[in-house]
Amino acid sequence: MTKQVVLSFSKSAKPKSDTAVVFAMEGGALTDQAAALDKKAGGLIASALRVREGFKGKHGDVLSVILPKGAGFDQVLVVGMGAAEKLDVIAFENLGGKILTTLKSISTESASLLLDMPKNTKTSEAEAASALAAGVRLRDYNFDKYKSKDLSGDRKKSKTLSSVTIVTTASAKAQALFKDEEALAQGVHLARDLVNEVANVLYPQSYAAIIKKELGALGVQVEILDDKKMEKLGFGAHLAVGMGSIRPPRVVIMRWNGTSGATGSGKGAKPSKADAPIAFVGKGVTFDTGGISIKPAAGMEEMKMDMGGSAAVVGLIRALAARKAKVNVVGIVGLAENMPSDRSYRPGDIVKSLSGKTIEVLNTDAEGRLVLCDALTYIQRTDKPKMIVDLATLTGAIMVALGYEYAGAFVNDDKLWSQLSNASTASGEKLWRMPLDEAYREEMKSKVADLQNLGNLGRYGGACSAAGFLEHFIEGKTPWAHLDIAGTAWWKSDKPTVPKGGSGFGVRLLYKLVMDHYCV
Ligand code: BES
Ligand code: MN
Ligand code: ZN
Repeated sequence: MTKQVVLSFSKSAKPKSDTAVVFAMEGGALTDQAAALDKKAGGLIASALRVREGFKGKHGDVLSVILPKGAGFDQVLVVGMGAAEKLDVIAFENLGGKILTTLKSISTESASLLLDMPKNTKTSEAEAASALAAGVRLRDYNFDKYKSKDLSGDRKKSKTLSSVTIVTTASAKAQALFKDEEALAQGVHLARDLVNEVANVLYPQSYAAIIKKELGALGVQVEILDDKKMEKLGFGAHLAVGMGSIRPPRVVIMRWNGTSGATGSGKGAKPSKADAPIAFVGKGVTFDTGGISIKPAAGMEEMKMDMGGSAAVVGLIRALAARKAKVNVVGIVGLAENMPSDRSYRPGDIVKSLSGKTIEVLNTDAEGRLVLCDALTYIQRTDKPKMIVDLATLTGAIMVALGYEYAGAFVNDDKLWSQLSNASTASGEKLWRMPLDEAYREEMKSKVADLQNLGNLGRYGGACSAAGFLEHFIEGKTPWAHLDIAGTAWWKSDKPTVPKGGSGFGVRLLYKLVMDHYCV
């Protein structure tokens, strides 16, 4: 990864900053510090605003102006804050992201962001400053590890941004708030790295090794089940998906026991009900060709992202462990590569899942549910979680329903839904509740086996019947949410805090869920 910008907070501007970032309110009025800078610059900013009539201080509008000698900075970026009453944490994060992209596009090494809070905002100055920094950090991501460095020296060397200082009267408090945001952003970046990584490098074995290295270092217990162990235990559905590939499947279980100091439910220790963990389950299909029911060629390269659910689980646990969250969490990811070959599973095959239920395979491209169902069964039987959330790039049908904006949330418990809904608002990662229904569960029953992996209605309601299939594997009354993130794990175009490609969707949402509702 390219070097990240150094972020700091201070009560005064960094002496050697070459660029100032100041704010304007909706309508174009400059904030106090912006007006003070304008005075030093002989009114140049105000006249720039007059000439550029298009700049009205709308949220995210930017205007850059070169300053005269003696102004203290070489140039200034004026950023529109928009209506004060709409300035929540997410709005400040988006501004931070926008500022980072603009700074990277102009020639600057070091910027000072002069924050003035308008009246009537929903946030304190410290929260705003921390959110601005978080937005900068979230957007400060590039997947360019496969780009050769320019060795020819042909390209003109332009300045690269190395530091951003946020100038605020609440610098100490902002710094403290940002510490957690920083850990969270590292989790998001890890998830993006995993999603963006190519399938000839990231496959079940190598993926498992990365998880062990990344999370083991933070004190997370990482257990890997290899294909032999999976066979012994009876992961029949998951193993079938991986059969066509030379790269054998894996299951990785990650346990973070944050409620009892360093000790947790070690081997043999029976956790009490209060200690029961919450579980996160992720689909980790490292490449989905569709198998024998092969996908069309166009766009198939994107199917390296079919492990986005698992990446969110790994990123989330990284963030929770980094801040030593007081919660017991278990993550489980089912890793497999779905390939066509002479060893592949076929349409018509009947496989036996870990739960004991038999499944008729009607389409080998409906593989995610086969991986997930075994992971769901395993984690319920071994760890007895008090709540389960699974994430999966499960269906194209959820994209027909919700596009790229919202993930579909299928939730069997209203309280869990209200917690998720709060976390969604707080993180800006959008969820839309979708139905679970007896009819969808019925649709997934087979004539020749217990279940079938394809609904009877073609594409109609495909995300709902997929959820209905999974619901057959939820035991007892455990609160459970299934998040279909096929549309949100991979961004087609840039967003303020998310460059296109792997988004890391789910990490911030579930971090909020855990921190606000499940920590002791
Ligand atoms: N991984 C795909 C779903 C997907 C599609 C994710 C596009 C991201 C972008 C999944 O395994 C799949 O192929 N689903 C099928 C299910 C169908 C065969 C019932 C689909 O959605 O077409
Ligand atoms: Mn598929
Ligand atoms: Zn898939």
